[in-house]
Amino acid sequence: MNATEQKQRAALAAVNEIQDGMVVGLGTGSTAAFFIRALIEKAHANGWQITGVATSKRSAELARTLGMVVKDIDEVNAIDVTVDGADEFDSYLNGIKGGGAALLYEKVVALRSKKNIWIVDESKQSNRLGSFPLPVEVIEFGAQQVALTLQHMNLHPRFRMKNEREHLLTDSGHNIIDVDISHITDLTTLADQLKSITGVVEHGLFIGICDKVIIGTTPVQVLSKN
Ligand code: A5P
Repeated sequence: MNATEQKQRAALAAVNEIQDGMVVGLGTGSTAAFFIRALIEKAHANGWQITGVATSKRSAELARTLGMVVKDIDEVNAIDVTVDGADEFDSYLNGIKGGGAALLYEKVVALRSKKNIWIVDESKQSNRLGSFPLPVEVIEFGAQQVALTLQHMNLHPRFRMKNEREHLLTDSGHNIIDVDISHITDLTTLADQLKSITGVVEHGLFIGICDKVIIGTTPVQVLSKN
């Protein structure tokens, strides 16, 4: 079974976690898009009222186009569960996110959710985080200065590009600098160090946030936080 099929299977399995009336955090990326489509299909078939809280403009647009009520995070009292993809995860359910440049909203929504589920294909599983470049979201003003700091930290920073000349901008108008953390062992300390750099808004290390990972293999594998 290829990666796309596994993403679809994981997304379908995650729909079983949703009940009528829930407020659901909608992740970003190809796997999250499969989930959004499948959830809306089930909600329509069963006459469910589901409210979505999106982690990106693209997920909000997809959900609204398909007929889901999507509210801003500040318009809801609580988010029951968020279902999102991941770029890499380990056996402790820590992970790297932001390959789709949505890490800031993804983390804001995840940290306000009662439960977080990641849906993935098996290629995302890793013994040690760091094969995927870690996205660091920075404000545009002084972004080159932040990149210099990251260079001095030996993290080999690279601006994520929209095209040959322009930096990619996130939904918030920030830049993304991808860094190499494959040689770093203490990721908690690294997370703190990155957050302490003025100009850094957020990074894609999600430590202690995910409650459950659904891997779309046959059979589906579920890893839960103890
Ligand atoms: C978006 O910023 C990311 O965190 C995605 O969740 C991640 O890139 C997974 O993407 P796919 O589901 O497309 O693999």
